[in-house]
Amino acid sequence: MAVEKERRDFLGMALGGFTAIGGIAALGAAKKTWDPLPSVKAAGFTVIDLTQMEENQVTIEKWRGKPIFVLKKSADMKANERDIVVDGTRYHVSIGLCTHLGCIPAYYPGEHKFICACHGGQFDASGEVLKAPPAKPLVIPPFKIDGTKLVLGEEGPEYKELKSKNLIA
Ligand code: FES
Repeated sequence: MAVEKERRDFLGMALGGFTAIGGIAALGAAKKTWDPLPSVKAAGFTVIDLTQMEENQVTIEKWRGKPIFVLKKSADMKANERDIVVDGTRYHVSIGLCTHLGCIPAYYPGEHKFICACHGGQFDASGEVLKAPPAKPLVIPPFKIDGTKLVLGEEGPEYKELKSKNLIA
């Protein structure tokens, strides 16, 4: 009889232990749900490795739900005060939305220009307007240069300088 009771006590404790562990796991899961995910905490920032870019090719990244154009300029492409210079190489970086009504222009490497199919607006390889209806250049997003990386979403000194000169858009 005593053996039977001890066995029941042991089973009770074991079950209680499992329940407690289950409860802690459930609390842990609930806490994870309440905490923002690491990727959410990092949301708002997009890090672009510029060493991966090819000359005269537009890479489209995503930042805060918007397309971002990154164009590594080749030596024969006209320099512009809106260029972002990293390691002696010039880049054009802009939010890839036409400043007319927000369509996404396409880059034509042979012509070194962005053409918007919606109403025929055109921008050069620095995002400056070549042909209306857009009235403003492509907008440069907030960025910070971190070595050979570009951090979108943070206002670094280079961005602040462009902003102070009214060159962002
Ligand atoms: Fe690009 Fe109108 S939206 S030209």
